[in-house]
Amino acid sequence: MSDRGPPKQLFIETYGCQMNVYDSERMRDVLTPLGYVLADRPDDADLVILNTCHIREKATEKVYSEIGRLRAHKQRRAGEGKTMTIAIAGCVAQAEGEEIIRRAPAVDLVVGPQAYHKLPELIARAARKTGERLAADFTAQEKFDALPARAPDGVTAFLSIQEGCDKFCTFCVVPYTRGAEFSRPVADVLDEALVLVDRGVREITLLGQNVNAYHGEGGAGFADLLQRLARIRGLTRLRYTTSHPAEMTDELIALHGSEPKLMPCLHLPVQSGSDRVLKAMNRKHDGAYYRDIAKRLRAARPNLALSTDFIVGFPDETEEDFEATLQLARDIVFAAAYSFKYSPRPGTPAAAMRGQVSEAVKSERLTRLQVLLGAQQGAFNRAQIGLTLPVLVTGQGRKTGQKRGRSPYSQAVHFDAGGAQLGETVDVRIMAASQNSLAGALEVQEEERA
Ligand code: 5AD
Ligand code: SF4
Repeated sequence: MSDRGPPKQLFIETYGCQMNVYDSERMRDVLTPLGYVLADRPDDADLVILNTCHIREKATEKVYSEIGRLRAHKQRRAGEGKTMTIAIAGCVAQAEGEEIIRRAPAVDLVVGPQAYHKLPELIARAARKTGERLAADFTAQEKFDALPARAPDGVTAFLSIQEGCDKFCTFCVVPYTRGAEFSRPVADVLDEALVLVDRGVREITLLGQNVNAYHGEGGAGFADLLQRLARIRGLTRLRYTTSHPAEMTDELIALHGSEPKLMPCLHLPVQSGSDRVLKAMNRKHDGAYYRDIAKRLRAARPNLALSTDFIVGFPDETEEDFEATLQLARDIVFAAAYSFKYSPRPGTPAAAMRGQVSEAVKSERLTRLQVLLGAQQGAFNRAQIGLTLPVLVTGQGRKTGQKRGRSPYSQAVHFDAGGAQLGETVDVRIMAASQNSLAGALEVQEEERA
């Protein structure tokens, strides 16, 4: 709590990827010392932050409709003699900051992904109504140096180690919104991990737009960083997301077989199964290369579960190309997958390509793909029934009294669990599975039974 007067209500709405989830947590950390406490609704907040996503058109449009709703709350509060500061953060802020300022007078400030450490100063300026509503740009390193120590509120946490992307897939805005690849120094990553573990975190998910392209000082690669993190006592699980197939080094693949703290699942976006489309996407890999990586990963770690991203209806995608995508999914068999209709993004090469596919065809292909992927995900979850899985205890269900936990594959697990403690890893016998979660009971040890 702060010594600067009564608490102020802060509401943060997060859209898009896990990087934004991480950034929202860090914004909260920056604002807590100013006396802000998190609210569950925006209606009566003193400060509302929309942490936005620019990856597809739909995500971007949501921001403008949400600003419309917030404006009504802001006006009502003004009638009560109170203020509401509206801040737009994240990738839409970065890409369309000036347009937001022009289109949405209710917005007080716009803060890009590298400038949110400046929030206290920007909010103070907005309160003085200087008319200056656009945040300047900073480097990622300046931001990380300025952020306060982490204050995690659970046993799992994200840790951002890499931002930006130099891959320039022709459909993607990330290289424009998040800029060139930047990796944090190894020592900074280790320090942040130690703070997290010291405060009770047991599972860390390393984040980056191209996390496995990580390169630390002195030539330290991503596999080296993982090995150093794995040595931290008290840290029991490591994950990372999101990866690029072209950055799966031999060393990293081997580590999946040799490092028990590395969880047996990997999100490895493939986007398409057609070599022609993959080339037009500038993905730097073809279907055979992806299949080979999957095979080698599974040879290293036989129980490895793969998840992926697909885009359907990329410009000039034919029925034959789409069939190749279905075939790749059938061949690999994914434990989970996200699939999207191609969305032309301003300024990206694919938006100007000939042969844009109609919405009707995109929708029809998406449905066919999702039926297949949904069946694979259901089958993967059902295959856990009868198995005993190590489950990290993450919390307690409010109504049921059951414990909540996370399987090695990141599935939510609800289970009856006598004395299992938060942060402990316990053996749970899985008895039921739904599309998104598992249910089970604590495995009783032989000695306890006797
Ligand atoms: N249209 C549709 N999906 C996209 N993605 C990225 N850009 C686009 C786009 N323009 C998807 C990719 C990526 C995921 C994060 O979002 O599948 O892996
Ligand atoms: Fe976008 Fe491709 Fe970079 Fe992923 S690798 S962030 S899809 S440009």
